[in-house]
Amino acid sequence: MTAAATATETATLSVSGRTLALPVVTGTEREKALDIARLRTATGYITLDPGFGNTGACASGITFLDGERGILRYRGFPIESLAESATFTETAYLLIYGNLPSRRELEQFSTRLAERAALPDGMERFFDLFPKTAHPMAVLSAMVTILSTYSPALLNPYPAREEMDEAILTLLAKVPTLAAYGYRRAQGLPVVPPRRDLSYTANYLQMIFGAPSPDPAIVQALRQILILHADHEQNCSTSTVRLVGSSRANAFSSVAAGVSALWGPLHGGANQAVIEMLETIQRDGGDYKKFVAMAKDKASTFRLMGFGHRVYKNFDPRSRIIKKACDQVLGTLGVQDPLLDIAKHLEEAALKDDYFITRKLYPNVDFYSGIILRAIGIPTNGFTVTFALGRLPGWLAHWKEMLESPGMRIGRPRQVYVGPAERPYVPLSQRG
Ligand code: CMC
Repeated sequence: MTAAATATETATLSVSGRTLALPVVTGTEREKALDIARLRTATGYITLDPGFGNTGACASGITFLDGERGILRYRGFPIESLAESATFTETAYLLIYGNLPSRRELEQFSTRLAERAALPDGMERFFDLFPKTAHPMAVLSAMVTILSTYSPALLNPYPAREEMDEAILTLLAKVPTLAAYGYRRAQGLPVVPPRRDLSYTANYLQMIFGAPSPDPAIVQALRQILILHADHEQNCSTSTVRLVGSSRANAFSSVAAGVSALWGPLHGGANQAVIEMLETIQRDGGDYKKFVAMAKDKASTFRLMGFGHRVYKNFDPRSRIIKKACDQVLGTLGVQDPLLDIAKHLEEAALKDDYFITRKLYPNVDFYSGIILRAIGIPTNGFTVTFALGRLPGWLAHWKEMLESPGMRIGRPRQVYVGPAERPYVPLSQRG
């Protein structure tokens, strides 16, 4: 359970002649928030914050992110150390249970995941019902929901601790299998069942590609990508998971909704969009400057994909790690990708450009991740599924944290109504 945020001072709000003392809540890293829980009752006012740029939806003990200083920590541990040294399973345990596991805890956790990785009997046939053109994110979201139909004991709206744990293990264990089976079936290939003797990451790769022992360089590259994506506090998909979960919908429907939210190109879908953009530039003769100009043109809807972030206004620490990894992985695998050169030119041009400098737009995690995933052999439309696998422990950690928070309420924002004022109904016969 997360310690509640403490209020140590108050701020004063004056509105329409009324004064209200608002508790100032201070987080671990001294970040401050005005607690407006009593605002509407006391004043009749609500706040208006489209896009939630200034709204804290909860107090959370999972991830700390400082966008100005480019800091990202999971449960206090810097992302750089975890990306360097931790396994993905260890990172998932850390996010969900709050501490690094002991050797025994990690072995137990890994065994419990491996034991649950196979799909329920009969579930495989659903993959054959999707059209061949189905996007892998649509298939994943649908299959996570279908998985819930095989797990009736895990749908309790008020789950006991063991039920919550079992739902978490079931999803963590089976989502890679769902993702890999979806990929194999879409390619018209037979599925490759999960293996208990491999790590989480190596098992996923063998289920996708069917090679009995995946290349350690590829396992290592994917491990790092998954860890870098594992949590990012209240992003769009995680907020979706929390909002859906707050209605006491189960873990499966919450995660399926998270997958759908992640699919969008402004969020996780950006990794696919970046590669598609680089391919377009390549087909166009490599004139990246034209695309930088287009991204600046307010008459165009084009944006430089993989650039900009709602919270990072200096640099995205994940993108630094991934850029370095990109050079290393391509070198180790002996892959020469012309898209990498285009990406580097594009980055260089954008970082020198006043438009990007003044708006504090830097490459984000998705700018280089797609080039690594391409080198590994993952098809472009499967990139966001890889992001979903990475983000899964984060979603589950937030779902658990929320359900365990005392005083948890259903999420329900308000609005300012700007539609027509009351008007009388006109019968159809009088409407002409
Ligand atoms: N290319 C060109 N202009 C941009 C870009 C971009 N990629 N991103 C932001 N801007 C401009 C935007 O037009 C606006 O300009 P102005 O002030 O003149 O109107 C200004 O920068 C602020 O943009 P915003 O849309 O208000 O910023 P936001 O915080 O709402 O959006 C974002 C953040 C990530 C959605 C946005 O930067 C974007 O669309 N980036 C491209 C998509 C992308 O790479 N998404 C992946 C994000 S990281 C993965 C994850 O989601 O975890």
